Amino acid sequence: MTNLGKQPAAGGGGLLQIDGLRKAYGDQVILRDLTLSVPEHQCLVLIGASGSGKSTLLRCINLLEQVDDGTILLQGNDITDPRVDADTVRAQVGIVFQAFNLFPHMSVLDNITLAPRRVHGIDRGTAERQAREMLDRVGLADKAKARPDDLSGGQQQRVAIARALVNKPLLMLFDEVTSALDPELVGEVLTLLTDLKHDGTTMLVATHEMAFAREVADQVVFLADGSIAEAGPPSQVMDHPSDPRTQKFLRRMSF
Ligand SMILES: Nc1ncnc2c1ncn2[C@@H]1O[C@H](COP(=O)(O)OP(=O)(O)OP(=O)(O)O)[C@@H](O)[C@H]1O
Ligand SMILES: [Mg+2]
Repeated sequence: MTNLGKQPAAGGGGLLQIDGLRKAYGDQVILRDLTLSVPEHQCLVLIGASGSGKSTLLRCINLLEQVDDGTILLQGNDITDPRVDADTVRAQVGIVFQAFNLFPHMSVLDNITLAPRRVHGIDRGTAERQAREMLDRVGLADKAKARPDDLSGGQQQRVAIARALVNKPLLMLFDEVTSALDPELVGEVLTLLTDLKHDGTTMLVATHEMAFAREVADQVVFLADGSIAEAGPPSQVMDHPSDPRTQKFLRRMSF
């Protein structure tokens, strides 16, 4: 890993190891003393009420937000160190949001190759070859020349996932990636996420899709009041929640 200050891996030793994370907006503390570990090849699903801080946590890990305190170690390197190059970290930590954020005037291929070429200086031929590989991976090999507007929402989201995967990140973050989709398109994106997990992708997924969490998560983490109220395998957290806040949240969700 280049440009990242070397530090010994903290206890826990996950690919991602978060310790004592604090994030506030003004007086409002969103995350307090949060500790979390994501082992390599595992899928950790974040659940919690709206406003519980799921997106804030993912944005901190992608360095889209500055943390107030604590450490975020990626392969043992503290990425919150101000000397760390954010572009380097973002190539290693892919993030996909609810909104696809594709450029409508550019082809699918150009959307995917833009950052590798402009930010990482990869030549066009290599960038396009890698992009086509990823399009194939998400089942859209025939859409390289299409414009985003000519694709369904599910296809656009799969392009956004291909764009994040093209850097071969160590870790993928997914923030409610199916929330903006028509119900009949949700399945194809969740199937892709499931495939990625089975291929060994290390992922942290914020979602309200409880059936997906139950099926794919190695660990389910319930966020409440700025910290982790409960965490464990789905059979434990979802079937036998011990915290009253988890019980109340799960009662409200239909699954
Ligand atoms: N840039 C910001 N400035 C001020 N407050 C913010 C900002 N971003 C988020 N917040 C606040 O932080 C809290 C956590 O928001 P966040 O978006 O992380 O929640 P969430 O768990 O992702 O919710 P949802 O399930 O609705 O996506 C909310 O109270 C929100 O209003
Ligand atoms: Mg959110």
